[in-house]
Amino acid sequence: AAAEKGGFATFMDKEIHDQPKAVADTLLGRTDDAGRLRLDEVHVDEAVLRQVDKIIVVACGTAAYAGQVARYAIEHWCRIPVEVELAHEFRYRDPIVDARTLVVAVSQSGETMDTLMAVRHAKEQGATVLAIVNTHGSTIPREADAVLYTHAGPEIAVASTKAFLAQITAAYLLGLYLAQLRGTKFTDEITDVLDDLRGIPEKIQRVIDGAGRVREIAGWMADTSSVLFLGRHVGYPVAMEGALKLKELAYIHAEGFAAGELKHGPIALIEPGQPVFIIVPSPRGRDSLHSKVISNIQEIRARGARTLVIAEEGDDDVLPFADEVFRVPQTPVLLAPLVSVVPLQIFACELATARGLDVDQPRNLAKSVTVE
Ligand code: G6P
Repeated sequence: AAAEKGGFATFMDKEIHDQPKAVADTLLGRTDDAGRLRLDEVHVDEAVLRQVDKIIVVACGTAAYAGQVARYAIEHWCRIPVEVELAHEFRYRDPIVDARTLVVAVSQSGETMDTLMAVRHAKEQGATVLAIVNTHGSTIPREADAVLYTHAGPEIAVASTKAFLAQITAAYLLGLYLAQLRGTKFTDEITDVLDDLRGIPEKIQRVIDGAGRVREIAGWMADTSSVLFLGRHVGYPVAMEGALKLKELAYIHAEGFAAGELKHGPIALIEPGQPVFIIVPSPRGRDSLHSKVISNIQEIRARGARTLVIAEEGDDDVLPFADEVFRVPQTPVLLAPLVSVVPLQIFACELATARGLDVDQPRNLAKSVTVE
């Protein structure tokens, strides 16, 4: 088992370090000589894909957060409405699904029963189902109309890390492919985004190499009873995933919020000493989201929160209000989750280790849940 962990103490630690490769491998071989995207595994009639007027992503757990991240990118690139729904809720609300709906089922294992049942329901309604799955030969891709495999390699630790980054990457490829096929106003930029994506593994590596401080802080926080996470736009699902990792691994109460929602409720939770992670959007993004999130940090700091800030290199606006700053490389806005989630994974893993817990096999959880 020691050899399988590649010299790391745990599978989780190894899988966090595998992430640059998981993203790079998922991107590999997806373009032709002319640089156009070719998703050879997606055997859906192009005419059908051109007619899609709605996308519904169905998934559970971390895979559902990958879907939430992808939604921002796919809607922006393709101008197709995207819904993201927990697979076990999907079928019971009598969803509006027809032959022009593309249902995208995201699953590491390909065996999650809730997701499989959603796939079956979607097919019964006449939708086209595309699976984004990591495990070859599993059930969900067999039942779906098409599959786009993530190439994260086997994921052993129960809580998902590298599969999450690979799922986001694959969903981006799908979005770019649909934009290419349908010829949106964004089509000219596809090559640039692909280049940006190819630069991501090196950025993830820099986050991992520079994670000494986040490990140190996590080590000191073993007795913490609650951690909050705030994010906005693509940072919102990152906040949710950061909270989920902490629940799963460290059994600590953790909650992720949309930063804009703070004043509508969660700010009441802030009391002196409350640790809050804030995922700060790029100052280069549009719509002044950056300054709005800086204001949020200021508001909670004024109420005594301990602010743990994830911000881009060079973003000095955060300094006056941050108790700690964890830097991530500058990254195009829509791709930022691929780097900004990494410190949160490392934080949860280290904090759980500091509490003496088994990070690979958290209590009460299973790697793949094959019952409804
Ligand atoms: C379980 C695991 C989670 C995972 C979820 C979905 O609950 O503990 O880590 O995110 O299932 O799994 P899937 O294999 O469908 O991605």
